[in-house]
Amino acid sequence: MGDVSADCVTLDVLREARETVRGSPLGVVQTPLVPWSQTSLPPPPVPCSVHIKLENMQKTGSFKIRGVANQFARRPKGGHFVTMSAGNYGKAFAYASKHYGSKGKVVMPETAPLSRSTLIQSFGVEVERVPTSRLMDVVNHCVQNDHMIFLHSYDDLDLIAGHASLGLEVLEAVPEPDVVVVCCGGGGLLAGVAAAIRLSGFCRTRIYGVEPEGACTMYQSFLEERPVGMEAKSIASGLAPPSAGTLPYQLCRRHVDQIVLVSDEEIKTAVSALYRSGLVVEPSGAAAFAAIIAGDKIPEMAGKSVVCILSGGNMGKDELANFPD
Ligand SMILES: Cc1ncc(COP(=O)(O)O)c(C=O)c1O
Repeated sequence: MGDVSADCVTLDVLREARETVRGSPLGVVQTPLVPWSQTSLPPPPVPCSVHIKLENMQKTGSFKIRGVANQFARRPKGGHFVTMSAGNYGKAFAYASKHYGSKGKVVMPETAPLSRSTLIQSFGVEVERVPTSRLMDVVNHCVQNDHMIFLHSYDDLDLIAGHASLGLEVLEAVPEPDVVVVCCGGGGLLAGVAAAIRLSGFCRTRIYGVEPEGACTMYQSFLEERPVGMEAKSIASGLAPPSAGTLPYQLCRRHVDQIVLVSDEEIKTAVSALYRSGLVVEPSGAAAFAAIIAGDKIPEMAGKSVVCILSGGNMGKDELANFPD
């Protein structure tokens, strides 16, 4: 990350990114924010007013396109880009590469589903599948020997500023939320949304990040007061990168109240509850909702105005079979 620090993330930077995302030729959607009461979900565990932000309906099926739109707009046109992702970032990166006609390469773990490689290749992007332990070596080789430009999937100022557009949209619809609940993997989304809310002047809004118990790098980073890594494992693979991002960690320390943990069982229950109400949300995308329906994870929700982000919906019929009815 070089010398980029949390001080570089100002409201002006976020507002500019928001305009870039809004005007992006990638067609980023201003996703609906629906009141829970207008869905067929069973009532929340405590009486409160919850709004649900439907990023599962976003272009490419997740919020990642927001950050990607801002990254591509601020990198050299016609560059040759490389990234490391088996998930939603890779899909958004490939979509943008095709749109901009830029050359792209995605390095992914050889354990990722083959269907994911096929999808990314269908956008004209090269895929190299390597053992997980070699991912970074291969990326470094691409940068040093083939002069490619590395785009990080969560630890990048432009990406985080693009994700912040989601937070600014929330504030337009729910002007002063009491509680905002956001899932956390490397922390790019949480950092962007939290910065958008705090830098807009909402100091009393409580902001919670949600991680899986088996992939709690940001939770552990808060305890150790530095970004840490771990052998992360969860059904929510998008929330299980090997470490918390450095810039996300700094921003989350500054702007996030608390990281709470959910089990894989709680995530599965959330995916099923959402599906029964007609919402297809992947495990990573359902973690914030899982924390809310668990009842005792998010403190003092009663009577409050709560916002829950559903961050992605990329899940096939085959995967759905793993969830309880
Ligand atoms: C659906 C979904 N939600 C959340 C995340 C976590 O995002 P971040 O790494 O920015 O915390 C991801 C990451 O891939 C994702 O795919």
